[in-house]
Amino acid sequence: MSQANLLFLNNKAMETVGVSDMAEAIHDVERAYVLTQEGDVISPGKCVLRWGKTVEDENVLGRINAMPGYIGGEYDMAGIKWIGSGPMNFKKGLPRASVTVILNDPDTKLPVCIADGTRVSTIRTGASGGVAIKLLAKSDASVMTICGAGAQAPTQFEAARIARPGIRTLYIYDIRMENAQRFADYVTKTYPDVKAIPTENIEEAVRNSDIIDCVTLASEPFIRGEWLKKGSLVMNMADYEVDHDCVKRADKLVCDYWESVKHRMISTVALMWRDGLVKDEDIHADLGEILVGKKAPRENDDEIIYFNAVGAGILDIAVTVRCYRRAMEKGLGTELSFWEE
Ligand SMILES: NC(=O)c1ccc[n+]([C@@H]2O[C@H](COP(=O)([O-])OP(=O)(O)OC[C@H]3O[C@@H](n4cnc5c(N)ncnc54)[C@H](O)[C@@H]3O)[C@@H](O)[C@H]2O)c1
Repeated sequence: MSQANLLFLNNKAMETVGVSDMAEAIHDVERAYVLTQEGDVISPGKCVLRWGKTVEDENVLGRINAMPGYIGGEYDMAGIKWIGSGPMNFKKGLPRASVTVILNDPDTKLPVCIADGTRVSTIRTGASGGVAIKLLAKSDASVMTICGAGAQAPTQFEAARIARPGIRTLYIYDIRMENAQRFADYVTKTYPDVKAIPTENIEEAVRNSDIIDCVTLASEPFIRGEWLKKGSLVMNMADYEVDHDCVKRADKLVCDYWESVKHRMISTVALMWRDGLVKDEDIHADLGEILVGKKAPRENDDEIIYFNAVGAGILDIAVTVRCYRRAMEKGLGTELSFWEE
């Protein structure tokens, strides 16, 4: 391939080179967290192109986020995740999120790859949840609730089962019951040893669960702290599903990237920090600090732990680099001429 050519990888090509391999994605995401701790990444804040003025507007009118970054180590690549979110796309039969990842050579800074990152995004978000569960859930966790049966739900569950294979009961809660039912059917077919229970009774689900994983578009909390049982892990993977009491009752508050959580300012713990209800020193750790041994993971079976993930472009870049290098090895993808003679 000439120096000014780039590789285009569409969704099919990305599948062929292993984008959906969750175990590999968990490895990539862990490496990104560790390289962050080692100071070997550049990860500026997310730039949000938001339609409307409020979170409520955004959850109807949508947004496009730009998440650039450089990741060192064995990845050694710069790039950007450019993610469109059209919450009303379902009315047109389209997924909410569409993601483009561009990889740039860290030396020449030229683009070397444009990839469909839509699958990358759900896989790496699942992988982040999986890392959190590995470090923060009870070792014998067997009951889980997933709130939000959309695009993220299957990969959240896949990674959860890799981290805790003993999960046997899954409650599924969604504002659209047909989505909860569809996901329950998928889980029943894919994991015959799991009892999938679509439910409108979120209180009962939370009261019974060791892990509560939120991936909805909710802008008002619907999970109450008083429902959390001892030893539970509540995962705020999206916005504002859990009330202040969930954070107050937690023995540990853990984030993927606390500084980015504050910058994004839409999750429960971020809004509490804005209002002076949570201080920087109340945050126990970022996941990377636990991975490198600077901070403790779960320490006993009674702790309630709150986890909030906001994500970072370097996670998508890490997964895409692995796929890009494999495509180059195998001669897959479509070569495009960036600059003609
Ligand atoms: N932390 C991260 O790194 C990360 C990465 C990607 C996406 N996300 C977030 O995850 C969330 C879900 O993303 P997705 O791609 O699965 O979206 P999606 O639109 O495919 O699915 C969202 C689901 O939530 C349901 N829902 C909406 N409002 C609800 C409410 N009030 N109560 C219960 N269910 C509700 C919808 O019916 C839908 O089934 C989004 O908020 C997204 O921003 C986080």
